[in-house]
Amino acid sequence: MRTLEIKGASGSSAIRVGERLGSQTKYIVPERTVIITDTNVRRYYEEMFPRCSIITVGTGEKIKTLETAGSILEELIGHGADRSVFLLGIGGGIVCDITGFVASIYLRGVRYGFVASTLLAQADASVGGKNGVNIRGYKNMAGVFNQPEFVICDPELLKTLPKKEVQCGFAEIVKHAAIADKAMFGFLEENYRGALALDPEIIEKLVYDSVRIKASVVNRDEKEKGERRKLNFGHTLGHAIEKAAGVSHGEAVAAGMKAASDISVRKGLLSAADAKRIENLLANLGLPTEIPADKQKLMDALGKDKKREGDIVHFVLLNGIGNAVVENISIRELLHG
Ligand SMILES: NC(=O)c1ccc[n+]([C@@H]2O[C@H](COP(=O)([O-])OP(=O)(O)OC[C@H]3O[C@@H](n4cnc5c(N)ncnc54)[C@H](O)[C@@H]3O)[C@@H](O)[C@H]2O)c1
Ligand SMILES: [Zn+2]
Repeated sequence: MRTLEIKGASGSSAIRVGERLGSQTKYIVPERTVIITDTNVRRYYEEMFPRCSIITVGTGEKIKTLETAGSILEELIGHGADRSVFLLGIGGGIVCDITGFVASIYLRGVRYGFVASTLLAQADASVGGKNGVNIRGYKNMAGVFNQPEFVICDPELLKTLPKKEVQCGFAEIVKHAAIADKAMFGFLEENYRGALALDPEIIEKLVYDSVRIKASVVNRDEKEKGERRKLNFGHTLGHAIEKAAGVSHGEAVAAGMKAASDISVRKGLLSAADAKRIENLLANLGLPTEIPADKQKLMDALGKDKKREGDIVHFVLLNGIGNAVVENISIRELLHG
């Protein structure tokens, strides 16, 4: 097990990569803890949960709402939870986002931590202190920045994860390597087979490196004023593709990274050979690099980008593998080259 520290304005967070779900009692007092989980994770892992009260939510993006948060708040009141309660979210990014949000507002804020059970949550979503819920289908419209006390990343939990969900995690892992770590990118190129087979040692290294990269960015820019924007590599177009083509987040981000690499080549920042390496790695990990989508729908989706300023988006380009730069680009240029 290896631990990384995130120091946010709202407190610091210990990310424990390689720790086990079954070791929870080292970190929590069961009598004072309420677990928040979803129906799938509960079905697979309830026997390994510490003995605490459990609140269960449904699954899927559609339940990441104020209504779900409200019903959890009511259940907490029902359990008689006071300010000394500790909320332990056990699940993927959705459970983590909701748990962090509820913990930030219940009684004006109570202590909380996560056991991240998807590759995406381990490598990305559970780290960084952002949380929140969707409103009318618009993602993450309400939320706060607030760091969990700890995040446990247990690679053993990934064995039950559907393949599609594993792929979503790999897209974010490739993103972290591409923007910040050439050696990690090389490791992925050499070890993609072991990664796909969920070899615990390889996964632990990839999750650790991902968290290290995300943590160092977040430590420098917790509230996304500059540096943190680099984490959006592949995501500006990715989110638009996700909406316009109705594909999964990971697939859309993979195609978004390929498109952003091509734009980086056009701008003379990235060599064509390095863009090819990125394309090959994504393909080796089973991720798509071209997703046909209607231009008008893409345009509409880009127009709704939360991070847009007028016609301009802060677009992440690669200045070589392992090095990202953020440039202002117009939506028109993005779509028409
Ligand atoms: N806060 C952040 O910084 C941040 C960053 C990236 C993504 N996110 C959010 O994360 C969410 C997506 O997270 P996700 O991809 O983990 O999705 P998810 O939480 O929906 O989990 C995916 C599916 O896998 C199931 N599952 C979870 N763990 C399992 C396990 N060990 N075995 C079998 N099944 C399991 C879940 O029940 C669910 O059906 C999105 O809402 C996104 O906005 C947040
Ligand atoms: Zn993402």
